[in-house]
Amino acid sequence: MKADDELKQIAQEVAGCTKCPLHHSRKLAVPGEGPSNADIMFIGEGPGFHENEQGRPFVGAAGKYLDELLAKIGMKRSQVFIANVVKCRPPGNRDPMPEELEACRLYLERQIQAINPKVIVTLGRFSMANFLPNAKISSVHGQAMKVKGRLVIAMYHPAAALHQQSLKPIIEQDFARLPELIGQAEKAPESPLGNSTDPKKEPKQLSLF
Ligand code: URA
Ligand code: SF4
Repeated sequence: MKADDELKQIAQEVAGCTKCPLHHSRKLAVPGEGPSNADIMFIGEGPGFHENEQGRPFVGAAGKYLDELLAKIGMKRSQVFIANVVKCRPPGNRDPMPEELEACRLYLERQIQAINPKVIVTLGRFSMANFLPNAKISSVHGQAMKVKGRLVIAMYHPAAALHQQSLKPIIEQDFARLPELIGQAEKAPESPLGNSTDPKKEPKQLSLF
């Protein structure tokens, strides 16, 4: 299937999905958006209040800040694909639960396959854990890691930086390095952090292919 058609198909499935309890409380599911041939895919955690109202990712305060971070490196939101690990809002913005992450995982995996981005930027720890189950965000943020052949860069969540001033310069520095890191995509070594030795952690990882 063509990438555009597959993304439309996924969005349609997500809109009516009842695979996990989050469908009970959602107003609109948020499949994600952006060009099907995007080089960069940002993956956040899950829809918040405004995203749930509008059916679009990162349209609240964290989204405004993401737009600013992109603008600082000369990029527009329309150039990148933005998705989340869960497509429906966890009530009261609580953390997504393991069974919800598991239920929603295949949609994200299909999006990654369809878009085949040069680089995946994870925003926050739930998104990072899909790719780097053994990593700690404080030690790996802003570093290019190859996970099963694909470049993954973990970053702090923009909402975390809004709440914790000390993270702002860190996330801004990490974004500033994005163009350079993407340029080095081919050279990055495979990360040992991507290969979990704990079998209990294995199912959380996306296959990426
Ligand atoms: N935070 C996220 O992780 N995703 C959104 O879409 C909005 C806020
Ligand atoms: Fe389906 Fe994902 Fe929404 Fe759960 S969060 S209902 S799995 S689309």
